[in-house]
Amino acid sequence: MNKKVYVGMSADLIHPGHLNIINEARKLGEVTIGLLTDKAIASYKRLPFLTYDQRKIIIENIKGVYKVIPQETLDYVENLKMLKPDYVVHGDDWKKGVQSQTRQRVIDTLAEWGGELVEVEYTKGISSTQLNMGMKEIGTTPEIRMQRLKRLLEVKPLVRLIEAHNGLTGLIVENLKIEKDGVPKEFDGMWLSSLTDSTAKGKPDIEAVDVTARMQTLNDIVEVTTKPIIYDGDTGGRAEHFVFTVKTLERLGVSAVIIEDKIGLKKNSLFGTDVEQSQDTPENFSIKISAGKRSQITKDFMIIARVESLILGKGVDDALLRAKAYIEAGADGIMIHSKEKSPEEILKFCEGYKKFESKVPLVAVPSSYNVITEKELIEAGVNIVIYANQLLRSAYPAMLETAKSILENERSFEADNKMMPINEILNLIPGGK
Ligand code: SPV
Ligand code: MG
Repeated sequence: MNKKVYVGMSADLIHPGHLNIINEARKLGEVTIGLLTDKAIASYKRLPFLTYDQRKIIIENIKGVYKVIPQETLDYVENLKMLKPDYVVHGDDWKKGVQSQTRQRVIDTLAEWGGELVEVEYTKGISSTQLNMGMKEIGTTPEIRMQRLKRLLEVKPLVRLIEAHNGLTGLIVENLKIEKDGVPKEFDGMWLSSLTDSTAKGKPDIEAVDVTARMQTLNDIVEVTTKPIIYDGDTGGRAEHFVFTVKTLERLGVSAVIIEDKIGLKKNSLFGTDVEQSQDTPENFSIKISAGKRSQITKDFMIIARVESLILGKGVDDALLRAKAYIEAGADGIMIHSKEKSPEEILKFCEGYKKFESKVPLVAVPSSYNVITEKELIEAGVNIVIYANQLLRSAYPAMLETAKSILENERSFEADNKMMPINEILNLIPGGK
C-alpha cells in the first residue's frame, strides 16, 4: 500500500523551493497538500496575494500532488490526526523562530502512530520574502487594492488602520513591521482622515479642503502604497454630489468611504456639543446612502455609515435606531463614534449591536477612549479599528521643538540629536541615487 505523505504550505507565490519539496515528498508516497487557508496565513503574516481557491487550483495541478485539503490553522495537529500520514515533509528552515513550536508538535503527533518528519534542505537563492518584495515594487491595481479590505474582514478578527496624510506617512503604514512574541505585526491599511488631511494643509476640518484637494493627497498615497484605504468622506455633501465622489474613489481603488450623518457646516466630532453641529434625519441620510450604493460601479466598494448620536449627546438608543436604519438603506458597515474618555458608551452600543439580526462590519475610532485595547474591541464585536490622527499628532510637536531650538540657539547643532541623520533621509526613499 502507498505510504501517506503530508505537506503543509501557503503556496502563494510558487517557486522552485515548493516544487523541490513536493518532488521529495512524492518519492516517499502519495502526497496530500494541507493548503493553509487565508485565515491561517493571516494569523501570522500578511494576507496572501492569491485567494485560497486560486492557490488550490495551482497546487492541484502540480505533478505529484494527489490531493489538496485545507489546513485551517498554522498548527498541523488537527489535519495530522485526521490523515495519520506516514511522513510529513517540510523545508529545514523552520527549526528556529515562530514555527519551531509548530515543528515540535508535528514531531510529537507523528510519534503517536510511528510517523516521521522528513526535512528537505532549504532551497537557496529564492524565497517568498524576496518574491514579496518584488511584488511590492510592481505595485497593485485599483481593483486588487479595493478588494483587499473585504478579504481582510473575512479572515482577521480585527482590521487595523492608521491615518496617512501624505506619501511619506503612507509609506510608514505600508512598510512598518514589528515582531511581538515571535509574531510579525503590521497595519492592514490606511485611513484618509479629514482632520489630518486638512490640518496638514493648514486648514480647519470643516470640509473647506474640498474633494478635489483631498484627491491630491489620496493620489500621493496610492502612488507609493498597496494596502487598502478607507476614505473619510465627511458628510458626503449633497446626495447629488456624493454619487460622483463614490465613482472617483472607486476609480482610484479606495475600498470604502465613511460618511457621517451630520448636516450643514461640518465641525470635527471631537468638539462634541461645544460647537454648533446638527445631525441629519435618519430618512435623509438613508437617501444619501442608497444614492451612493446605486451609483457605484464595482461590487466591492463599501459605503460605511457613521453614526454621530453619541457625539451629539443623543444617547445609545438613538445610535442603535439609526444604525439599523442605515443598514436597511444599504450601508456596508457602521462606524460608531464617541468623544468620551471612557469606552463605556461605545461598549453599550456594541452590546445592542450584537443583537441585530442583520449586521455589517462595525468600525470604532478610539481617539479619546484610548485606554481600550484591541482585544477588548474584538470582544465587543468591533471589526475595524482606526487610529485616526496619531501620526500627525506625534510629528507636529517634534517639528515644533526643532524649530524652537534653532531659533533659540541660532543654529541647528543643538537639535541634531533629535533628528534623523542626513544620510538616513537621503536613503529613506530608494531610487534617489
Ligand atoms: C477624522 O480623522 O477626520 C475623523 C475622526 O473623522 S474624528 O477626527 O474623530 O472626527
Ligand atoms: Mg473626519
